[in-house]
Formats: sequence, structure tokens, C-alpha cells
Amino acid sequence: MSVTKHFSNRAARMQPAAIRAVLAQMTAETIPFAAGKPAQHLFPLDAIYQQTGAMLEKHGGDVLQYSGTAGFLPLREWLAAQTPPATADQVCLAAGSAQAIDLVGKVFIDEGDKVAVEAPTYTAALSALKVYGPEFIAVDGDADGMVLASLEAALVAGAKLIYVIPNFANPSGVCMTQERREGVIALAKRFEVPILEDDPYGELRFSGDPLPNLFEMWPEGVIYCSSFSKIVAPGMRVAWMIAAPELISKLTIAKQVTDLQVGTYQQMLLHYVVQSIDFAAHLEEVRGYYGRQCQVMLDAMGQHFPAGICYDRPAGGMFIFCRLPDGYNALEILHEAMRRDVAFVPGESFFADERGANTFRLSYSLASEAQINEGIAILGALFREVLSE
Ligand SMILES: Cc1ncc(COP(=O)(O)O)c(C=O)c1O
Repeated sequence: MSVTKHFSNRAARMQPAAIRAVLAQMTAETIPFAAGKPAQHLFPLDAIYQQTGAMLEKHGGDVLQYSGTAGFLPLREWLAAQTPPATADQVCLAAGSAQAIDLVGKVFIDEGDKVAVEAPTYTAALSALKVYGPEFIAVDGDADGMVLASLEAALVAGAKLIYVIPNFANPSGVCMTQERREGVIALAKRFEVPILEDDPYGELRFSGDPLPNLFEMWPEGVIYCSSFSKIVAPGMRVAWMIAAPELISKLTIAKQVTDLQVGTYQQMLLHYVVQSIDFAAHLEEVRGYYGRQCQVMLDAMGQHFPAGICYDRPAGGMFIFCRLPDGYNALEILHEAMRRDVAFVPGESFFADERGANTFRLSYSLASEAQINEGIAILGALFREVLSE
């Protein structure tokens, strides 16, 4: 007899992340091009250590008490100031942008609703939204972002929510052009469909000029979410959503019924950490580091990868997305790469439809320069073997 027969239909839609299966096979020797984890030496450990003590001295037990669902007001004020035209009452904190995505799913998706997502897109967003039973419509993506004709077709087909990562997307690394941003907003306005703008990598631009957020372009219809995970530390689990009053109030209720609030301790600590350091200089250091890492990987790829492998040069973020010629399967190649101690993520799970078996994602955030050079040389040799078979 098993009580698992009582699992909900929703539970059947919850699947473990494909990437975790790759990570589980890694050993201490594996060169880590798989995970999108930030480089640990960039965490502001000294400030975290100092501000923990200072905060406890200043606020005592309040730091460990329940607090309001939307989050610590000084932190929300600071976040709103970074994201015009938002005000603090349009900000609600979440336990990672992973949770923000889940809350948007909870608020907007009924079973069978159509949701437009880019192909490829963040696999964990697909997994989180899938729990609510949507039908995904895969919107073509290219080096400029969402292809507008494809998005329009998705909206004509009845999509009622658009999920998009405009800046240095996971996994594609693509930064949506200004023209495409305007096109996406124009379509969303025409069809009156909200956009979930997921922006954890916006601050990680290492070349070119920043472009406006979609929220800034349409504050009435865009739910913006971003996170401290890639710019401070992911273990804090602090992210934020920003949206028009009638949207953020519903999302805040969703947060409340889910888990009441983000931990008071983490949100207050984050506030004091960002106020106590020169945060602009910190971001500059973070960007500089990833920019150098990316360049090292691109140089090595230029040297070792066979011409049959295509990829774009990212201007920010943590990822280089690659395509093998049609018919090749990146998952099969991964097995051999793991035997040679290099891990990457096969691309199939980033697609809401059947595409992507010939794609894979490389992350340059964690490996040292020496590991990047060694790992790319190993992969280059492997791809040459595979492509000449
Ligand atoms: C596009 C995207 N959205 C959201 C997240 C989740 O981040 P968080 O740690 O804030 O939950 C990630 C993490 O890799 C991501 O790549």
C-alpha cells in the first residue's frame, strides 16, 4: 500500500531539473561549465560579517521577528530608486526570482492557459510555470531577442502571459535590442497581455550601453523581477518583483499565502550590506570579472572549436550558448565529455517544444582561467572527433 497514490495532478507536473542530474555526476576533477553559479570570491563576505553584528546590535530581536510581506521598507525604497518609475509600494520581495516566477504563475495561470516563452529559455522557469498546467507556446529567438512575428503568432493563438529574459538571457546570452524591446511592448499592449520580465543578469553587462527595462517602457503591464543572487550571493535567497499597484498587490497576497515573507534577517542584512559598501564599485568588479572570464572562454573556443559549432559573443551574463550542426545530440556528447572531466548543460531542457537536441550551454562563471583553457581544449578535441565521424 502506498500513500503516494494521493499525490495531486499538480505533483505529477513537478519534475527534477535536468541540470541537477548533470551536476550530480560531477566530481572534484570535473571542469565546471555546467552550473550558472556565481563566483564565490565575489561575495562581499567582509561586509556580510561586519553588518551582521552591527545589525543585531542596532535592531536586536527585531531582526529575527516576523515582518511585513512586501519586505523591509528601506530596501524596497532603494530598489525602487534603481528602477524608475517604480515607487517602494510597487516592490515586493521574494525568496529568489525562482519564487517570483512561481508567484506569477500562481496569479496568472489556470490549467490550459497559453504562455509565450522564448525558445530557448530558462529551464527552471518552464518547470515552475508547468506546475500550473499551462500550454507553452515557444516563440522563436535569434541574436536580437524574441522574433516579433513569432511572438505575434503566439498572441494570436491566445497566449495570456509572456515570459522573457531581455538581458543576457539564460541560456542564450542574448541581449534583446531596443527595436525588439519596442516591438515586444507594442504587441503586448495591443493584445493586453502582461509580460514577466526576468532580469537577474541586467547588472552583469560588460560591454555596450544599458538598454531600458521593459518595465520602464510599460509600467502598467510589465512585472519586473530581479535578484541579488548573481550580484551579491544566491544563498541569501532575496529577490524582488516590481509592478503596477493592482498587480503587485495581488502578487504580494500570493507571497503572503505561500510563505508569509522573505526572512527578515536576510532582507535586512542585504539592505545594510548594499548601503555599507561602494555598491557601484562592487558591481564594476563583478562585471569586470565575468567579462574577462567570457573573453578567455571565447578566445579558447576560437582556437579549439571546429567551425561546425556556432555561437554568439555575449555582452554580459554568464553563458555562451552553442549549436552543433542539425542531427547531432549534445546529451550523447555530454556523456563522453563527463568521462573526460568536463561538464556542460545540454540544451534540450531549455526549449518548451521539441527543439534544441543539438544545442548546449557553457558557463564561464565558476572555472578558473586555466580550467577554461583546458576544458575548452578537451571539448574542442571531442567535437572534432564527433563531427568528423
Ligand atoms: C533567468 C533566471 N531567472 C531566475 C533565476 C533564479 O535566480 P534566483 O537565485 O534569484 O532564484 C536564474 C538562476 O540561474 C536565472 O538564470
